[in-house]
Amino acid sequence: MEASYLKLHGTATILPSGRLAIGGTEAAELAARFGTPLWVIDEDHFRANCRTFRQAFRTALFPEGVEVVYSAKALAPLALCRIVHEEGLSLDVVSGGELHAALTAGFPAGKTYFHGNNKTATEILLALEAGVGRFMVDSLDELRLLEATAAGLGAARSGSGASRSQVGGRRADVILRLTPDVDVAAHDYVRTGVLDSKFGVAIETGQAREAVELALASPHVALRGIHCHIGSQIFDAAPFERAATVLLDFAAEVRDATGFVPGDVSLGGGFGIRYVEGDTPLAPAAFAAAIARTIREKTATAGLPMPRVLVEPGRSICATAGWTLYTVGSVKDIPGVRTFVSVDGGMSDNPRPALYGARYEACLANRAAEEPGAEVFTIAGRCCESGGLLVRDLPLPRPVVGDILAVSCTGAYNYSMAMNYNHLPRPAMVLVRDGLADVIIERETYVDLVRRERIPPRLLGPLPPASS
Ligand code: LLP
Repeated sequence: MEASYLKLHGTATILPSGRLAIGGTEAAELAARFGTPLWVIDEDHFRANCRTFRQAFRTALFPEGVEVVYSAKALAPLALCRIVHEEGLSLDVVSGGELHAALTAGFPAGKTYFHGNNKTATEILLALEAGVGRFMVDSLDELRLLEATAAGLGAARSGSGASRSQVGGRRADVILRLTPDVDVAAHDYVRTGVLDSKFGVAIETGQAREAVELALASPHVALRGIHCHIGSQIFDAAPFERAATVLLDFAAEVRDATGFVPGDVSLGGGFGIRYVEGDTPLAPAAFAAAIARTIREKTATAGLPMPRVLVEPGRSICATAGWTLYTVGSVKDIPGVRTFVSVDGGMSDNPRPALYGARYEACLANRAAEEPGAEVFTIAGRCCESGGLLVRDLPLPRPVVGDILAVSCTGAYNYSMAMNYNHLPRPAMVLVRDGLADVIIERETYVDLVRRERIPPRLLGPLPPASS
């Protein structure tokens, strides 16, 4: 059964009992078993999204000509890293921490793409030793640091991503991140392709050319291609087409000047999803067809060979596969103003509404078939911030204390951006499929919250009595 006031994604359905089920288990039962707040990941839907993307790009281009690189920053607990690998996707990691997590999950280092706009020397060393597939180099300074670090290392172990250099040391496989100066209609915080951006080397300032020349001159760097990531939650193909055009124009210019031809062309991620009514993203197949057409046309006119095309979807793989379950703790009417429904989580498990004004849909999991009346409700989180609201003006049947609120599309940038403000322990996460529910992230405990804190010995004497 569908709900009238929220879109049900993946395996989510409303049972004849009127209760929401995800992955074959009632959401209210998950809440009772594992507690709330609780992140729930619909495994079949996550896998289906991986397949849809891979299939779409392989069909639009050709199977060997495409690499779909899942962006770990959106959501990548160990269990999902394994699923991503099983589904044939590579992994974009953006820090030593994400790389460590991927390796801990058993993800092959050679299928990781190491991003980030200020990789530290330690991270670069870790990545070189692990043998990451590609360094996505973000600046001239990083290129110099990478080359110096690779030069200082012993020869690569066989099978590692960094190949043996002719002159000792390592040779790092590099893709250069460019700023194509392509704008997108998205929140300011997720527009990354414009000239005034901290990311990438700009084409129009000449830095991109300089970086190419530096990379080509280095025996410790093998320049494999070029990349850009223009932003996030993009609904139409035009910005990707513009970005592909800019990248391939640059490729032609560089080919003419240096003879270098990029084997890899990555257009980054940013494929939008539907969070709420009115969000109208293209389907992955339509994005893929438009990108493939542009790349074919541009390479043909510029006389360039077809590159391997890379895309880095994050949100579009995991967002709709995630739900957050909360328990309603209070319902406060302010007549003529608003009704606040307070739940047991908040910006600590989902900072997106407070950060970006992000919008969500939700239902009462234990009463999902009931129709909302004319009233709307504002879902308030627990953090001590007036702005700590999860959803404003949400149509719902009037909630009562103890109801389970299920917020949809919380798979992306919720767990990965969660925090401990007010010392709220972060929720557990369960992976559901065919009536099975496995905890893939344990709920944080109070002990976890103070585990890394220390009291210097000089403060360890008996405490004086509290003064009145
Ligand atoms: N590739 C690169 C280089 C990226 O920087 C990103 C995201 C992606 C791929 C994946 O983008 P996606 O397909 O998920 O849009 N915290 C924000 C989103 C920040 C995105 C940062 N980069 C949010 O919650 O909306």
